Amino acid sequence: MSLQGRHILSIDQFSRSELEHFRSVAEKLSPVAKRKVRCTALAGAVLANLFFEASTRTRMSFHTAFARLGGEVVDTTGFTFSSISKGESLEDTARVIAGYADAIVMRHPEQGSVAKFASGINIPVINAGDGIGEHPSQALLDYLTISREFARLGKTIDGMTIAMVGDLKHGRTIHSLAKLLSRFENITFSFIAPENLRAPAELLQELNNAGHKVVEYSGIQEGLKNAAVIYATRIQRERIEGGETMEGYGENFRINRRALTNYAPQDAIVMHPLPRDSRPGAFDLSTDLDDLDNLAIFRQTDNGMLMRMAIFACVLGVDKNIEQTFQPINIYKPKKLSDKDASFYCFDC
Ligand code: NCD
Repeated sequence: MSLQGRHILSIDQFSRSELEHFRSVAEKLSPVAKRKVRCTALAGAVLANLFFEASTRTRMSFHTAFARLGGEVVDTTGFTFSSISKGESLEDTARVIAGYADAIVMRHPEQGSVAKFASGINIPVINAGDGIGEHPSQALLDYLTISREFARLGKTIDGMTIAMVGDLKHGRTIHSLAKLLSRFENITFSFIAPENLRAPAELLQELNNAGHKVVEYSGIQEGLKNAAVIYATRIQRERIEGGETMEGYGENFRINRRALTNYAPQDAIVMHPLPRDSRPGAFDLSTDLDDLDNLAIFRQTDNGMLMRMAIFACVLGVDKNIEQTFQPINIYKPKKLSDKDASFYCFDC
């Protein structure tokens, strides 16, 4: 199979075996992420990293992933310093940048905008989030995380139950991850949200049509039962329009120590795409879980490096035998990245 030259706009584009290929390339790149070797597979290549919406981890990890494969990165952040603010169309901007770079990563507030941007150009464009649409690279790194956590626990994705909690309406990470998991067999999706923030009806229909079990809950009490993965999300306040409200969202949706103890299986993995909203009244994932071994949120962000390197390697056609471009390096690295690290991945081994 070849992923070379492909855009990555939606999880809809990919078969299960293609998803598995991304994962296996990501696993091979582990020594690069652990900074034991340097990789020169993308030496001579340039990435254009275009972010028209707020981002920390997605923007920086795409940039770092390209750099760690030996490539160089040019970027632009926000509309103010881009010619889009002078009225240039997405299509014209895309054609210009295609003449400068070998791949483009783009985040934009409008659903469908990244596909429109990519439509007229032949260099790979990766959707880093298009409004409430999709966030395929996040779904891929979440998939890598679930696979790694399940390998440790002796579980399989086929047959699993995932509880998705929070803003399921505007949360693009939810949309992409649900689509990705629907490529597997016999998944139970427990969607937990107040009426106003329910997952889009078309998504529920798509999951049903693929033969999965979809159940909606209006609170965590019932919804967390049997969950092997609990995927919490932030309320996307910046996307909540005039007529919409957060009514009904509160403590009854909060994933914290008490909720896990009372309602969830003991070995449930807790995930969140981050950022978590730590402001009072946000009811986002609680910091009282920070020392829980099964809290995988920073393993997700670490896995983002692996998966984003894998994405570049695949779409730029250097995924085969990529290990042959590894060279040992001997720069200082700590034994673990922070005192809160669980020891599962062993950064130093
Ligand atoms: C998410 C996003 O931008 O959709 N963040 C991310 O990329 N990890 C989730 C969010 O902003 O809530």
